[in-house]
Amino acid sequence: MMEETILDALRTRPGEYVSGEELSRSVGVSRTAIWKEIQHLRAEGYRILAQPHAGYQLAGIPDRLTPQELGWDLKTRRIGRRIYAYDATDSTMDIAHRLAGAGEPEGSVVVAERQSRGRGRLGRSWLSPKGKGIYISVILRPTVQLQTVPLVTLMAAVAAARAVERETGLRPGIKWPNDLMLGGKKIAGILTELNAELNRARYVIIGIGMNVNTPKTQLPARATSLAEEKGGRLDRVSLARALLVEVDRAYAEFLSEGFDGILEAWRGFASFLGRRIRVVAEGRTVDGQAVDVDSNGALLVRTDNGFVEPVAAGEVLVVR
Ligand code: BTN
Repeated sequence: MMEETILDALRTRPGEYVSGEELSRSVGVSRTAIWKEIQHLRAEGYRILAQPHAGYQLAGIPDRLTPQELGWDLKTRRIGRRIYAYDATDSTMDIAHRLAGAGEPEGSVVVAERQSRGRGRLGRSWLSPKGKGIYISVILRPTVQLQTVPLVTLMAAVAAARAVERETGLRPGIKWPNDLMLGGKKIAGILTELNAELNRARYVIIGIGMNVNTPKTQLPARATSLAEEKGGRLDRVSLARALLVEVDRAYAEFLSEGFDGILEAWRGFASFLGRRIRVVAEGRTVDGQAVDVDSNGALLVRTDNGFVEPVAAGEVLVVR
């Protein structure tokens, strides 16, 4: 608590020294106690400059996704009001399911520095090396028909693409349904899991995995990371905050206006539309031209015999 108050005081005056006396007055403890807390914060990875007569200045935060750093002054309405952070876990999806099942409110977020059993779509695993990526699950409770839940996934893909573009200046493409791509390689993926009764969703968990500072050597061949593409380390904390802000914004857009705007934005990132593709879906293969997505988020493929076929789930290979 005391740490938080000190951090808040330093954060609100970036680039400035805040005197020990001022801190001791606002926290209500002695200057020696402030000094001890500063030592604790340094041990946690905060870079804090100290200058006699001037005081303390915040010069850097730890490269860790903590509730304090993610949640501080976060400009969101729903997403990230509560943040659960773990050093290591099996999968943030499992924790989010447990929380949601016990009544956790919409918008709560689970993050981990590392996952030992991160999972991806289509039964795959998601490599989650420590401190390199963003591994995050968000609990949503949208009141939508089951068949439109895939659109919630497209919404998350749009949010993630916007966050990447804003933070890095790199514009990712989206490969249906929700892989974020740079230079033909995957940088992020989204997994949506659902708990439902009959035709109503009780809750939806959106899991986002992003390769941020992951070196190529720790990635599968068809994947890359933002650092590899940008050519330098990126700030995971500010990227994760941008992600929460963009999910919040896209979700608010969907709640107030429905999916049309989101679909439009999705199309803007969907670099593969119009190309000849092969979709491998539930044991069958569909070849043809990627035309569009329909209002349920299914991919529309014009096959060689001229029919337009909706494909609800699967993996797209861009042929040419
Ligand atoms: C995919 O492209 O296959 C989806 C990958 C989703 C990975 C994220 S990481 C956070 C969350 N926890 C998991 O176990 N998976 C998702």
